[in-house]
Amino acid sequence: MSMVSYPKIVVSPPGPKARELLKKDETYISPSYVRFYPLAIESGKGCIVKDVDGNEYIDLNSGLVCLNVGHCHPKVVDAIKKQSEKFLHYSNTDFYYWPVVNLAEKLCEVTPGKFEKKVYFGNSGAEAVEAAVKLAKWHTRKQRFIAFISAFHGRTLGAVSFTASKPVQRRHFFPMVPGVTHVPYPNCYRCPFKLSYPDCDYWCVDFIDEMVLQKYVPPEEVAGILIEPIQGEGGYVAPPPEYFKRLKRITDKYGLLLIDDEIQSGMGRTGHWFAIEHWKVEPDVVCIAKSIASGLPLGAIVSRTRLMDWEGGSHASTFGGNPLSCVAALASIDAIKEENLLENATKQGNYIMKRLQNLKDECGILGDVRGKGLMIGAEIVEDKDTKKPAKEKALKIMLKSWKRGIAVITCGISTIRIAPPIIITRELVDAAMDIVEDVIKEVDKEK
Ligand SMILES: Cc1ncc(COP(=O)(O)O)c(C=O)c1O
Repeated sequence: MSMVSYPKIVVSPPGPKARELLKKDETYISPSYVRFYPLAIESGKGCIVKDVDGNEYIDLNSGLVCLNVGHCHPKVVDAIKKQSEKFLHYSNTDFYYWPVVNLAEKLCEVTPGKFEKKVYFGNSGAEAVEAAVKLAKWHTRKQRFIAFISAFHGRTLGAVSFTASKPVQRRHFFPMVPGVTHVPYPNCYRCPFKLSYPDCDYWCVDFIDEMVLQKYVPPEEVAGILIEPIQGEGGYVAPPPEYFKRLKRITDKYGLLLIDDEIQSGMGRTGHWFAIEHWKVEPDVVCIAKSIASGLPLGAIVSRTRLMDWEGGSHASTFGGNPLSCVAALASIDAIKEENLLENATKQGNYIMKRLQNLKDECGILGDVRGKGLMIGAEIVEDKDTKKPAKEKALKIMLKSWKRGIAVITCGISTIRIAPPIIITRELVDAAMDIVEDVIKEVDKEK
């Protein structure tokens, strides 16, 4: 039994005030957005989010993985308030101010690798990916890239050329930026080559060399490999232990840049500052966004200094590195350090994994449990032998959990995505997981 008073459902959601908002939204807001369920936000504090009808949910979404230090962390709010009384904007692209330089220095400290680095700031994840791709092109004077099937890197035209997670993201938007070759991502639960780990001996890596670079994509024309260390939207898929070391051998062999998209997995989510640290590999460029500024818009790339040699005017964005976002990011980094949140992400993550592993043994529809730290996926299948993805069942679990006060969503085809703020306590974990597990069991029993 949980010892906390959350969640609190006072009216079955969506309540009357949420329904009113939904009606206006339908009139005025672009239909291109995907809404998982009608959760209409009034306020948030820590791991709790309150809807406009007064229901309080435990947030396992972290506002789509943008709130690693929780909703309205007092340090972050205080930093924003103080900065808002000094100045709100003065294009870092054309002038100078301290918050942007201070943040760049901190990001260079926390990203993998002790070498010299420089930082470029944009406003979002897609902008970080755009910047990384443009920098790689500029520096290498090469035009081709390797990316991965099921990847998600954003939706601007450049970024979406690398995204390959769902047809809807690309339909009617062709032609894409040319030169991107997608290869299978290592997914040991659903090996794209139908092999088994470890007998496969990492064919998914050798395939890139032997079947792609040696057959039809001239390696001397490839600028780099863009990869998520753990696929996010693709289903919270984590590669096997030696994957990145072996991939690095390919990038070293041909002199390709390793571009690490940490937009979802970074800023402490997995128990390290950046997820690729689990594989002990140092990338050339790291893309950061989402949780970097605890909910304010900010994107960044951190690159080896010797690579960031593009000329003045080659790339910039008016609001990139705006002072409010930068102070929010500085305060977020301080909070992660001072509150030992990397340790907490590991501790709570291991605990959730253990709970779900136990549940897997007794639940026919829980096919796979995976992840690192607090980036955890629980894949729902029709049955464990065929592993057929059970999309409707996963959506049912998501909706039933929400109705009972747990804000949780899916990723991939049928994976429940568990990504609470990394400040979450054991008590709140228990309160949330009691409900989620109960709902999984309930759906498991349905025919
Ligand atoms: C790994 C990854 N890269 C890039 C993006 C795009 O970020 P944004 O939506 O801020 O453009 C996302 C967003 O979900 C992401 O998960």
